[in-house]
Order: sequence, then C-alpha cells, then structure tokens
Amino acid sequence: MDGWSVEVIDQRRLPHDFSIVQLTNVEEAAVAIKDMVVRGAPLIGATAAYGMALAMRSDASDATLEDAHSMLLETRPTAVNLRWALETMREVLLPLPREERLVTAYSQAARICDEDVEINRSLGEHGLKILQEIAARKKPGEPVNVLTHCNAGWIATVDWGTALAPIYLAHDSGLPVHVWVDETRPRNQGASLTAWELANHGVPHTLIVDNAGGHLMQHGMVDVCIVGTDRTTSCGDVCNKIGTYLKALAAKDNGVPFYVALPSSTIDWSLRDGLKEIPIEQRDAREVTHVRGLNAEGELAEVAITEATTKASNYGFDVTPARLVTGLITECGVCEASEAGLKKLFNK
Ligand code: MRU
Repeated sequence: MDGWSVEVIDQRRLPHDFSIVQLTNVEEAAVAIKDMVVRGAPLIGATAAYGMALAMRSDASDATLEDAHSMLLETRPTAVNLRWALETMREVLLPLPREERLVTAYSQAARICDEDVEINRSLGEHGLKILQEIAARKKPGEPVNVLTHCNAGWIATVDWGTALAPIYLAHDSGLPVHVWVDETRPRNQGASLTAWELANHGVPHTLIVDNAGGHLMQHGMVDVCIVGTDRTTSCGDVCNKIGTYLKALAAKDNGVPFYVALPSSTIDWSLRDGLKEIPIEQRDAREVTHVRGLNAEGELAEVAITEATTKASNYGFDVTPARLVTGLITECGVCEASEAGLKKLFNK
C-alpha cells in the first residue's frame, strides 16, 4: 500500500489463486477493465473512477482528463455504470482548478465506492423481503431455491453484490437459502466466482451447466431467479450476461418469478428499447474455443476444446425484455419493470 496506486483482485485467477494486481496509471486501469482482471458493472465503474484519479496524478490538465475519459470509456461497451462513473468524475473535476483535481479525484472515486456498498446493501434489504415472502409459503426449514446467472456478487461490485446481496442477507439472518449457480460460459463467472463467493460465505449452492435451468424449473426446483444487469432501459428492459434471456423465458413458461437486482447507476434513462439500442459487447472467439482451469501440475492453463479451424462468435450479453421480468430490485425499493414503475420509484 503506497497511498496512491489502486489494488484490485485479479479475477481471472480465481478461484484457484487469490492475487492482487496494482494499477499505477490510467493505461493499466483500462487494460484491467478490458481484460477482465476486474469485471461486473459496478466494479468496472469504480475502477474507471480510480483510473481517472491515476490520470490526474500524471497530469491534471483538461486534455489528460478528456483522454483518460475516452480511453476508459472504450474498454467495455455494454455496462452503463462505466459511463456513469466517468461522467460523474468529469463533472466534478472539470470545473476545478488544476491543483485541486488530484486530491478531489481520489476522494470522488472513494465516494463512488462507498456509495456502491451502501446502495447494494440497501437493495439487498429490499430483495430479502421477496425471499422472506417465498420462505413463508414453504414448509418450515425448507430452503428457498434461487437460480442466478453469471456473477453479481460482492466481487462484481465494491461489496455485497447486486443479485447476491439479498441471498447473503437471507443467509445471515438464518433464512435457509440454496443457490443454483449457472456456470456461465464462456468465461465461467458462475463456476469460478459465484461458487467461490458463496462457498466462502457458507451459503449452500450447487453448480449447474448453463442449459440445466429450464429442466430444474420444470421440476419445481427453482423458487425464484435473481440476476444482475449491466444496463437497464427506462422502460425496464435489462441487459445482462449472455444466457440471461433464456432463463427468463424458461421462468415465464414455468411460473417462476424472475427478478433483476440493480443499483440505479445501471439505468440508462436515455434508452427505451433495449433490443435496438443497447450495444452488445463481442469478445475474442478464443474465449469460446478455449477454456481455462488448473492442469495436473496445479498451474492455471488454457486448453482448446475445438479444432483450430472452428469459427466461433462470442456475444457477451443479451437483452431480457421487461415483459419477462417480475420486478426490479433497486436501492429505492422493488418496482415493476416498466416505464411507469421506474418513473414512480425514482420520481422522474
Ligand atoms: O462480463 P462481466 O463478467 O463483466 O458481466 C457481468 C454480469 O453480467 C453481471 O451479471 C452484471 O455486471 C451484474 S452487476 C453485479
């Protein structure tokens, strides 16, 4: 700890290795976001905010501020928290004299992080009520079975997580919960991160392949789905990790409530139609044709699962239309996934 560089957990190495990476300049912060050393919408925003602070360390001019803003904004296109955090930093820093920008940049980035913790705890409390209502309809002691996709836990945020926040609060309050964890191909955030988080917190969970959710729902083994979102439109469409939409379809067909947990910073009030307007990240095909894991020597290694000539495409996110979403769990309460629901909750 040197008081100025930014330390992040290298999520690419989890769950096998917990290692910390130091970000010492804005370029390193941008690469960390792009290469998914850090990932998850709120954490991307928080890291970008500190990226701006690192840029101010080298030179607090307007030009550096704008360059840092553009460099960080280009890293990942879908999560709107990134843009929100960068805009917040720019709005705070630009009007200031240059000599005040550095100190303010660090304190503003810290404020974004502190607020994220509070917001997620608060949305967790609102989500907890949903889990309590479901538990009240079950036999005493029977766990509430929650299905989640990707990783929307504490490691995707500054703390608590979004979709996992109600689960942690439920578990801590003695309400029995069990989580079905989608592995989440191609990068396996469910298998490597959600399962790791839940295990460390002592929350009962079972890892499933991405295609298993529909089967479980057909057999009454899922009481509720809770997922996160990287961008939510003003009409309640949600854009989350690829595969979320298929879970929402299966949930609708089986009468399973499908909730999305989000801090309000993931709402893009300028968009109405998620399908047409949200940019969907496409990543390197190698993430599909190869998988990473521990080899027999206990080292992290990558293996090919296809012939070298196999073509692959790698869409990172999909859009779940509002009509498939039972409710949005936010720091201000739970609302209908609709323009009316969001406007009422946020007084817009
Ligand atoms: O590509 P990732 O791992 O950054 O995608 C993350 C997700 O899809 C999460 O569900 C999302 O950010 C929800 S926020 C905690």
